[in-house]
Amino acid sequence: MLPQEIIRKKRNNRRLSKDEIEFFVDGVTTGEITDGQTAALTMAICLNGLNRNEIIHLTKAMRDSGEILDWSSLKGPVVDKHSTGGVGDKVSLMLAPMIAACGAYVPMISGRGLGATGGTLDKFDSIPGYNTSPDNELFKKTVAEVGCAVIGQTQTLAPADKKIYAVRDVCGTVESIPLITASILSKKLAAGLDCLVLDLKCGNGAFMEHMKDAVTLAETIVDVANESGTKTAAVITDMNQVLGKNVGNALEVIEAVDFLKGKEVDSRLYEVTMALCAEILTLSKLAPNLKEAEKALLQALKSGRALQKFQDMITALGGPADFCKKPEKYLPKAAIIRPAYAETEGYVQSMITRNVGLSVIGLKGGRIRPEQPLDYATGFSDFCQIGDYLSKDKPIAVIHAQSEQDFEQAERELRLCIRLGDKPVKKRRNPVIKKIK
Ligand code: URA
Repeated sequence: MLPQEIIRKKRNNRRLSKDEIEFFVDGVTTGEITDGQTAALTMAICLNGLNRNEIIHLTKAMRDSGEILDWSSLKGPVVDKHSTGGVGDKVSLMLAPMIAACGAYVPMISGRGLGATGGTLDKFDSIPGYNTSPDNELFKKTVAEVGCAVIGQTQTLAPADKKIYAVRDVCGTVESIPLITASILSKKLAAGLDCLVLDLKCGNGAFMEHMKDAVTLAETIVDVANESGTKTAAVITDMNQVLGKNVGNALEVIEAVDFLKGKEVDSRLYEVTMALCAEILTLSKLAPNLKEAEKALLQALKSGRALQKFQDMITALGGPADFCKKPEKYLPKAAIIRPAYAETEGYVQSMITRNVGLSVIGLKGGRIRPEQPLDYATGFSDFCQIGDYLSKDKPIAVIHAQSEQDFEQAERELRLCIRLGDKPVKKRRNPVIKKIK
């Protein structure tokens, strides 16, 4: 087989066989296929698509390009959640310990920030001592003993995805439903999960802005994952405004700890977190239905067991043993912490959510270059919501910046992110939009 003939075939909009797909993915993994050839094939896929069988073959070939984790010695279901990414999305921080407190095991392989969206890994990296790249032994021990471990992608898990993703990132081929499906699922299937729930963010702060695209991506992922042997469901959730009150790495960790302690719980964040957790518990048969699942989750929160799991995971992975008692003692703090006000009064009608995420990058809480170190302290707290009345007493948000110049820039940007009007608007109802099974 020749790589150029496979590329030519897809360029001419013809179907690729299982053997051809496996040959290409193999070649990418070993390095025999060049980045140029990978770029050409992914562009052909981006333009001409893949049918269901091709997506399944691609996903499985990428999954099998590296190690597949084996959790057969554990006495409970092995589960995970994947979010397509949003602004202020810190759900994983609470979900992993909440689910672990209900009896499942959560080996969560998470990613860094991508574009305007924050990354779970960056949030955990803001905790001093916490090791987001432990060796396999420590990772497995933490999952087995605590019930959850949130770490970064390892070298041995779906290495083909790592290479293909790096090429797609710089060749304009990220936005392709077949490629996104194979990329996300190859990693999740290699993690050896029994069940997976997908949080598909939809709105102006997400990769999928429109409902039609979000539904197609959710249906494709659910179908391919179930076909590949991992029970999967998807929940489409609203990303037309910041999720929760804080945006920025350390600030989101504080919000997560407050959530687990039951203080200052934002209602939209609560709805999304509970919906995803309940879906996991029913899918994995730890709860007979969503109502019972919610009861078990509430119990895990109220009893302090979920908070204890979060602390145990931090301790096991090298973080401070009393972190949850006083997270502020350990997390970095910005030099300037001051509210930013709108120039006029009015009700928040809408938010350009993506630009809020970009503003965090401006404060150096997100990356411009892949290797760039982050300032974990910066970002926004007490962010307003659609329907809030902004005035001289109610700011858009509190800015956490390291210099006056950065503060002023962020203030200008935030003012442009928020559209105000005289008329009250209905606060957005349940941010959980649609479930797909
Ligand atoms: N996240 C992934 O892991 N892969 C994609 O292609 C897009 C988002």
